[in-house]
Amino acid sequence: MNLDASSITPPPYPLPSRGGGVVLEIGFGGGEHLVAQAAAHPELRFIGVEPFLNGVASCLRHIEESGVANVRLHHGDARDVLACLPDASLDRIDILFPDPWPKKRHWKRRLIQLEFVAELARVLKPGAEVRFATDWANYAAWTLEVFTRNPHFSWTAERAADWRTAWSGHVTTRYEQKRLGDCTPVWLRFARM
Ligand SMILES: C[S@@+](CC[C@H](N)C(=O)[O-])C[C@H]1O[C@@H](n2cnc3c(N)ncnc32)[C@H](O)[C@@H]1O
Repeated sequence: MNLDASSITPPPYPLPSRGGGVVLEIGFGGGEHLVAQAAAHPELRFIGVEPFLNGVASCLRHIEESGVANVRLHHGDARDVLACLPDASLDRIDILFPDPWPKKRHWKRRLIQLEFVAELARVLKPGAEVRFATDWANYAAWTLEVFTRNPHFSWTAERAADWRTAWSGHVTTRYEQKRLGDCTPVWLRFARM
């Protein structure tokens, strides 16, 4: 098959315009949340990262069915994407129900680690935020501790309802629906100072 540039048909949708904010979703699973966010916010541009190939395929189907034009996907590890991003280039990072690794001997496999959070701080603009959710109590406590040890982040909760209730505009994720954790979901928002 001839794959020179002249044989490639341009996509039947407009490319997203520059200027709006950029949101990164790490571990988008099947992409339901990512695509719903992109549809609800055409003024923003979204990057989704997911190493699970079936998840990427599912997300591509959602993108095609919805017709959104403001999403770009990377099939792979979020740490590789973060390493390529310039300083202060993102407006928001969503990490929703990451793999919990509940057994103590597996905690080192958790995505949220001191070095990882330092990298999130580097790529976020001042005033930007990280949205994190989990339904594992130990992972919620772990994440709070790791973020509060980074001087660039502050936990934005002012009352219990702030971490007990999803933020406005949240779209339920596939994993969230399964209720596999040991607590009701905990919703943590961290501001990049
Ligand atoms: C428990 S699932 C949750 C998926 C989705 N966020 C949801 O709530 O339905 C965690 C996801 O994170 C992805 N993941 C694991 N390690 C990752 C990494 N290093 N970078 C990006 N995604 C990762 C997994 O493949 C999986 O799809």
